[in-house]
Order: sequence, then structure tokens, then C-alpha cells
Amino acid sequence: MLGKLYRFSMRWIAGFTLCLLVLHETAADLYLHSLRGSNNRLNEATATRANANRVFDSQNNNRGGYNVGDVDKDKSGNDEGKQYRMQYFQSGSATPGATDKSYITLEWTNQHGCGGSEDTDPQKQNCHMVLQYMCQDDVSSPVGTADTLRNGVTTQTPNHNRAQSLQENKATAQNRKNNNVNTQRVLQESWDWYDKCYMRERNKGLFTADQKLKKNNGLGVSAAIYTRQNPNGNRYGYECPEERDYFPYWHPTPWTDIAVLTDNTTLCSYFQEGSFNRKAYGECVEEYGDGSRKHWSKWNNAQECTANGGQWVVFSSYIEKAPQYTTAGQCNSQAERGNRYVWAVPYDATDVTKAECLVQAPPVDCKQADWSRSNHLGNGVNGEANRYQWTLPFFPSNSDKRCVLRMRYNISTDDYAPYSTDSTKNLNDGIEGIASPIEDNPYVDVGGRSALRLNINTDQTGRIFQDRSHVFKLLSRPAEIKSDKIFNVNVRGKRGNIVQVYPAVEYDFIPNNLQMSATDSVHIQWTGSNSHNNGGGGGDGQAGDEGQGQGGTDRSNIVQIADLNDNFPMPFERSNMWNNANIRWIYHGKTDVSAENLAVTMASAGYYRCVKKSDCPEAEHNNYIVETKTKMNNLLNNAPASFQGAVLRFQRGTYHYMSTRNNNFSNRSQKSTITVV
Ligand SMILES: *[C@@H]1O[C@H](CO)[C@@H](O)[C@H](O)[C@H]1NC(C)=O
Ligand SMILES: *[C@@H]1O[C@H](CO)[C@@H](O)[C@H](O)[C@H]1NC(C)=O
Ligand SMILES: *[C@@H]1O[C@H](CO)[C@@H](O)[C@H](O)[C@H]1NC(C)=O
Ligand SMILES: *[C@@H]1O[C@H](CO)[C@@H](O)[C@H](O)[C@H]1NC(C)=O
Repeated sequence: MLGKLYRFSMRWIAGFTLCLLVLHETAADLYLHSLRGSNNRLNEATATRANANRVFDSQNNNRGGYNVGDVDKDKSGNDEGKQYRMQYFQSGSATPGATDKSYITLEWTNQHGCGGSEDTDPQKQNCHMVLQYMCQDDVSSPVGTADTLRNGVTTQTPNHNRAQSLQENKATAQNRKNNNVNTQRVLQESWDWYDKCYMRERNKGLFTADQKLKKNNGLGVSAAIYTRQNPNGNRYGYECPEERDYFPYWHPTPWTDIAVLTDNTTLCSYFQEGSFNRKAYGECVEEYGDGSRKHWSKWNNAQECTANGGQWVVFSSYIEKAPQYTTAGQCNSQAERGNRYVWAVPYDATDVTKAECLVQAPPVDCKQADWSRSNHLGNGVNGEANRYQWTLPFFPSNSDKRCVLRMRYNISTDDYAPYSTDSTKNLNDGIEGIASPIEDNPYVDVGGRSALRLNINTDQTGRIFQDRSHVFKLLSRPAEIKSDKIFNVNVRGKRGNIVQVYPAVEYDFIPNNLQMSATDSVHIQWTGSNSHNNGGGGGDGQAGDEGQGQGGTDRSNIVQIADLNDNFPMPFERSNMWNNANIRWIYHGKTDVSAENLAVTMASAGYYRCVKKSDCPEAEHNNYIVETKTKMNNLLNNAPASFQGAVLRFQRGTYHYMSTRNNNFSNRSQKSTITVV
């Protein structure tokens, strides 16, 4: 022991200052604010989330996160159909430089800092952010079937019972799945995805420091559910821990890569070449007695796979299929509106001998992460939270999609070389000469008689944080906005004052200062929850939901103000925002809505559609007429929490607006500007 202590001490003295700075921080965290990150919340009225294992491993504080949106003024409760899914229009093409794109401003806060220039703003750690999404064809049932993306209506983790034996037959495996998957519970990755991870050997070439990784229960496989960061194999939804911890992953995954924001752009070629968007990855395929594909194999490499009777198959990623092209020649020659078409075996194929025509995502975007301040959750350059403008995908089939967004924040120290340290450096007490560059709670010899104990957990020295959205939709564009350039303006934040919502944020429009041209369009839309009471004990923060209107409820609306310093809306007669708007698309049909009716719709979050019955003779508008409907509460209590909104163009000018309910001078401001040039 003394010898070992000495060996380490020299190394540690060199890194001493750095280690103390970096490793004392235990609560790091990443919170998505736009899209609204769940941080594993669903609809709980408590300040702390009910279940940190519900969907994914966030490693975040128990507070933070946003509840799923509700369609109407009441809680969606046990009816997933009453949850609101944000509905963004897909891009109109994937052609680089084309103007028919849709953009969403993603915003997040991260605790440890990242990015900027190494020379002028050195950071205390290496880091990168990985942004990804997953989509599937939308279905009319809110909960769908076993493999449909859904939020669920309870905060419980979906079930998983392990196989009783590696010889399990097909019917037994199918039964296990049927018994486990419950449409009341969330689903992002599929049950098969987790089960496969549970059965497959982990990558034994990985650096695990001195962590002792277990074997899975009963089956004797040291599986991909065990990693340096998750040595006990804890389960979070149906996420695969090995895939969670490493990017680019070396097997096919259901995720499509959007962007990597890194502190070191030298690594961009590594990320881009390794991204599953364009690179095919192998997986071992084994069969049941009847010749059908098993959803799992124990083998994680070609050699052991084929030596044990399996077939090593290379699979490709896709955003959707193009079954109308039935030969390789037809498929590979397509380039419809900028997308790439490949004739290949899809990652989720059941018949692995059959190539199909696949539409692939663009290569992952890789760029320098913007600077953010260490230990100051959310402080980026000029005090702004960091953002990324996501160009939404284009799906040539014109079908609607159901999707989720995922973001990971990866930090590692300089205590070991992040990309070249492998299992040869793992601590193995039996073999002389192998010394892990890091060790749990080592003692540092500072030359005197007493050793200093460093606060180090080797499962945390390189660490990933994560947040994900609830389910949202990417809608195919209606004819009237086929070639529009569409910016999305939404609302971020939740009810409460700063100490009550932290580490989530208070209300604001996002982006809150949009510059666009008179030929660009903006889709205004928002969602809110009726269960943001922030009750219970408050956890690490404060309980309570300070704010206007009925407790626990989020509401937003838009009225024009003359100046950002004003807190009173302009009377309609003096306003110009709605007179200068051209409606490209509006929820519930027809676009020949008068400026006054548009103003009423926006001010009431869609509670009203028209002032007079004669303006809105259509049956679907019957229940939305000011003349006849129960009066709207002046704090919007009986207005819907979510609003599908409208796609608008504006004439040149500057338009300031606010939400009348949430704006409360000296307490909170929810104001924003659209500048049209
Ligand atoms: C995080 O960074 C480490 C290098 O420090 C790398 O091995 C790993 O693949 C990365 N994981 C993710 C999810 O980015
Ligand atoms: C960036 O990554 C490259 C490739 O791994 C490495 O050689 C270089 O030292 C890194 N630069 C910094 C500033 O960390
Ligand atoms: C503004 O907020 C404070 C504190 O939350 C509240 O007491 C007050 O009534 C609010 N004012 C209005 C006009 O809603
Ligand atoms: C909230 O606003 C009210 C005025 O509506 C003001 O009297 C009060 O001091 C404010 N509270 C805080 C905490 O700023």
C-alpha cells in the first residue's frame, strides 16, 4: 500500500491545484430550457422530481426540469391525449443554403463551463455537448403501441425483467416484453434496445480506472449496462448506459446526431467521421430456431460473433425510409431536395438480408462551443445563456413525426488523456506495473507527515450530464408555407420566483429578440403545465409558486406594447403589430382572419378566435366567439395552457410585446421584440 501511495503521490502533486479546483464540485448539471427539458419530470406538483430513473440518467439536481404541457386549462391527468406536444413545422428541404428551413433556438444552462478559446478563456476541463434527436412516424393514438414514443401518465420507470437464460426462446422473450411494456409509462428508447444492452458484453477495452464492474444478474455477462460511471448497472428508463457514456458509439443507435459543440475543434473530424448519421456500424446477429432474428447477442465484436455462430452485420442510420425506390440503382441516384439516399440495411431491420432505400440525415454539425463560466450555472458571454440554432430536418415523405430531443454535456479533466487512455490503464491489484492514472479518494503526500485526502470519485472524473425534451411533433408543411423560412418563437420557463424555479428559469419568450426580414415567417406557439405548484419540501431550493393567476398554472399570451419600458398594452386601435401581420397559417383552418380577430386570438391564447359570430361562421369556431363564450378570466385562468399559434409575416418595423399575465413590474418581466428589416 505504501509503495502504491508513493507511486501515485508524484503524479498527484503535479495535478494538485487543478484537482482541488475541479473535483470538489459534485453537482454539475445540464438543464435544457428550450425545448423544455424534463430532467425526468412528468407532471408532479412537487419541487423535486418524483423519479430520477424515469427516462434517462441525467446526473442532475432533483430540482429543475419542466412538466409536460397540458392542452387545456385542466391537468391532463391520466389522459396522454390531453398533454400538449409542441408542433414545429419541418424544414421544406435539406438543400444547403436554401431558404425553406425551419429554425428552433435551443437554450440550456450548464454548471461547469465549457468552450471559448483555450488561450484567452482557459477552462478547467475538457468538454463537449452532443445534441441528438429521435423521430418516428406519428400515429393517431396518443400512446400508440409497444414501441411508440410517449410521455406516459405516471412517473414510474418502465419495467424490465431479465431473461432467465441465454437460451431463452422467441415466445418467452416476446412475453417478457409484453409483460414489461405498459402504455401508461414513458417510452423513448425501446424495450428491445435496453434488453440488448443487458445481454451484450461491455466493451472491455474501455478505461474504467479502479471501478469494479459487476456482471449482470443471473446471466453471468459483464454487460454494457456497466460502465465506469455506472458501475452498479442502475437502470434509467430503457437507456443503454454504455451508449450514454460514449460518443460516437460503436454500435448502431436509434439517435440521429444534430451537433457536437466542442472545446477543441481538432476533434471535429473524429466526431464527424464517427457519427452514425453517415457511418455504418456493426452488430452481431443471431437467430432463433425458426430463423428469425433475435433482438440481442452476447457478442460485441465480429470475431467472437462469427466464432460463435453469429453473423456480423453492418447497419445504417436513417431518418425515414423511401420504399418507392425498390432497387439500389434507383435509390442511390435520388437526391430529392438535398437529402442523401442510400441502399442499405436499416439499424432496426428484422430481416438483415434485405437492404432498403433509406433517407439519411445531414452530417453532424461540429463547432466550437461558446464560452460559459465555470460554477455559474448559465453564465455565457455577456450574461446570456448558451444557445444553438437547430435547423429542423426535412422528411421527403411529407408525413408527420413524433420526436424527442436529447442533449449531453461531457466534461473530463486533464488527469488522463481523454481519448487515448484505455483498459491497459485500469487498476488491477494483481498485476504489477499497471497503475490507473486516477484512483478513488487517493491520499496525496505533500511532503510532511500527513497525507491530504482528495475528494475524487473515479466514476465522476470524466462525466456526462444529460437532459431531454418531452415528446414533440415535427409536422409536414401545408402547401401555403411550403417554401417559407420559419423561425419559431416559444415561451420558456415556469411559474415561480427565481429561488422557487431554480435551476429552471422564470418565464421569457425564446428567442426574445428576433431579427427577421419581411419575407421570413415566424411561428408563435407555446406550452404550459397546470401542475407547476413546486410544492412539497423544496429539496435544495425553495418550495412555492409565486406568480399571477391560479396556483400551479402556466399561462402566456401576447399583446403589443409601445416600448420595452412599458407595462401597459397598447389599445388595439393604436397598435400596428396585427395590422402589419400577414397570416401564412393559423391553427383551426382559414387564414383570412382580420387584424382585430388575430389580436384577440393572441391576447387570449386561443380562448377566443373571433369577436363576432359573423366573422367566424365555420362550425369549428362556434365555441370561440367573444360575443357568446363565457368571459375569459383577466388572469387567463380559464384560458388554455398551450397554444398552437400561427405562422406570421410582418411588414418592416419593430414590434414589442409582452404577456399580460406574467409581466409584473419589479417582480418579473415577460417581454420581447421582433425586428423586421
Ligand atoms: C466523453 O468524453 C470521453 C473522453 O473524455 C469520451 O471517451 C466519451 O466517448 C465521451 N462521451 C460522450 C457521450 O460524449
Ligand atoms: C485537441 O485535441 C487534439 C487531438 O486529440 C490534441 O492533440 C490537442 O492537444 C487538443 N488541444 C487542446 C488545447 O486540448
Ligand atoms: C405582482 O407580484 C406580486 C408578488 O408576486 C404580487 O403580490 C402582486 O399582486 C403582483 N401584481 C399584479 C398587478 O399582479
Ligand atoms: C412585486 O411587485 C409588487 C408590485 O406589484 C411590489 O410591491 C413588490 O415589492 C414586488 N416584490 C418583489 C419581491 O419584488
